[in-house]
Amino acid sequence: MYILINGSQKNHKSNSRYFLDYISKYLDDYTIYDLKYDFFDNIIDSIINTDTIVLAFPLYVDSPNSLTLKLLNYIYDNNIDLSNKSLYVIINCGFREGIHNITALNIIKNWATKVNIKYSGSILVGAGEIVGKEEYSYITSIAINKLKKFGRCIKDNKECNDIITTMDLLTNRIYCMFANHSWTKKGKINNLTKKDLKIK
Ligand SMILES: Cc1cc2nc3c(=O)[nH]c(=O)nc-3n(C[C@H](O)[C@H](O)[C@H](O)COP(=O)(O)O)c2cc1C
Repeated sequence: MYILINGSQKNHKSNSRYFLDYISKYLDDYTIYDLKYDFFDNIIDSIINTDTIVLAFPLYVDSPNSLTLKLLNYIYDNNIDLSNKSLYVIINCGFREGIHNITALNIIKNWATKVNIKYSGSILVGAGEIVGKEEYSYITSIAINKLKKFGRCIKDNKECNDIITTMDLLTNRIYCMFANHSWTKKGKINNLTKKDLKIK
């Protein structure tokens, strides 16, 4: 039984959830929880009764986001025994290079040691806002292939080396153009012009 946990505040619309849904295609017996909306006690019960946990969350200021930290702290503070369980991790960030997630991963590895869970591998996704959306699939195949590899690893219950994905197909300049376009689109939905979004 696999427990997949989405730590993103953005719930179903998050990139973290997209990656978990993708991974779930490889698994038979799983439940996906959203930390933002699912009942916290149910999540803890499921964690206690499972063999394998897949934790996905966004990078916030080089760290796990607060919802994810709340879960980690709760388990640590309450001495919940996670020995004989495996942990796989998916971290995604806004920057193009997945390596930015490494500090957050080290925080997770440190926590894993403290709560006795077997850390079994990770995928660190760069350009999460692009890789985590179906609409950009025409440029995300390299990262998605790595995600597939990670999914197979989880299915086979194997230990997996940390995988890092970087949006190599886009230069920094083009990547910034993508980001600006996305902010302009979001602004428009909220009745804001390009000028309104500029820092005055
Ligand atoms: C408060 C905040 C802090 C963030 N800090 C970082 C950061 O330090 N480095 C980075 O590359 N991206 C950062 N991001 C971008 C998110 O990691 C990125 O948008 C991610 O794809 C969101 O994933 P989600 O949809 O699963 O929540 C930050 C976003 C927010 C809202």
